[in-house]
Amino acid sequence: MTRFSFDLTATDGAARTGVIHTPRGEVRTPAFMPVGTAATVKAMLPGSVRETGADILLGNTYHLMLRPTAERIDRLGGLHRFMNWDRPILTDSGGFQVMSLAELRKLTEEGVTFRSHIDGSRHTLTPERSMEIQRLLGSDIVMAFDECPALPAERDRIAASMRLSMRWAQRSRDAFGDRPGHALFGIQQGGLEPDLRAESAEALRGIGFDGYAVGGLAVGEGQEAMFGVLDYAPGQLPEDKPRYLMGVGKPDDIVGAVRRGIDMMDCVLPSRSGRTGQAFTRRGVVNIRNARHADDPRPLDEACACPACRGYSRAYLHHVSRAKEIIASMLMTWHNLHYYQELMAGMRDAIAAGSFDAWEAEFHATRALGDI
Ligand code: GUN
Ligand code: ZN
Repeated sequence: MTRFSFDLTATDGAARTGVIHTPRGEVRTPAFMPVGTAATVKAMLPGSVRETGADILLGNTYHLMLRPTAERIDRLGGLHRFMNWDRPILTDSGGFQVMSLAELRKLTEEGVTFRSHIDGSRHTLTPERSMEIQRLLGSDIVMAFDECPALPAERDRIAASMRLSMRWAQRSRDAFGDRPGHALFGIQQGGLEPDLRAESAEALRGIGFDGYAVGGLAVGEGQEAMFGVLDYAPGQLPEDKPRYLMGVGKPDDIVGAVRRGIDMMDCVLPSRSGRTGQAFTRRGVVNIRNARHADDPRPLDEACACPACRGYSRAYLHHVSRAKEIIASMLMTWHNLHYYQELMAGMRDAIAAGSFDAWEAEFHATRALGDI
């Protein structure tokens, strides 16, 4: 059986390209993972998500444990079978979503208790329970259970939270055990403090994981501060394991992260923005609901090969988006996910060719032109 492994195939400066091997297929890195929170990438069929170029999806412990529950998904054959996606799935561990979505949260050394944002029911998540849920889901890449303070926060609060997350990382490792073909990733915390980031990286390396995430970013600090951390944080993590930047981001965030040594990312932006009429194109963001598109027979992006751009005008997308027709979400999401995957493919090719600087300059120059 294929074990989980990571092969770095080329580097260009700090940027890297490679392949993650899993029993469910390969993940080409740098990889963008579309978000399938509730066992669906909203408005997309799994086959369509694959057609955009995605190798792996992200699922959420928090949402699935509440509805339809991990035990029910397990009885129905696991998350892959349940949602009809047979390729790799990474699941987040729940703590981060509890902190942003749940009500009446209570954090202790043991874990976190909270009320569901759906029906107010009471639940507990601990490192052990998070590992159990992610096992029941059948997740290929399991995330350690962590906690993440919103920024800005006091240094003492960030340090205490990071140290709690590192104790939880050890408990996650112990509870995960040995599961051939499945991977467990640790999550670095420490806010914007280089020494706390270093302490966190050291703790995680000591425990030993199959991959390492940079957590606690894109929580209100801004791009400059985030890049400031990414200038050193990836270098604190093992070179021979995948590095995953959680919850990022806009196209220019992703390009900046890859330049700094990140291999994997996830974000709701391409799918969520698609549903509110925002399109990402080579030339920047287009709000398709803007009146200037009402009579425009041209596609969103003439260079894009996605179904929305091959078959439909801006005028049509404008109409269905304003009318809140379901096809608007479908087409706009497809286009955005296609754009993100093309971006990743472009970076992978440029890194392999040793031309990332030139590729990045072109990326920024094309955006500077603005929309057609
Ligand atoms: N998603 C975005 N940031 C984080 C983080 O710091 N931890 C976890 N578990 N998920 C995230
Ligand atoms: Zn398109």
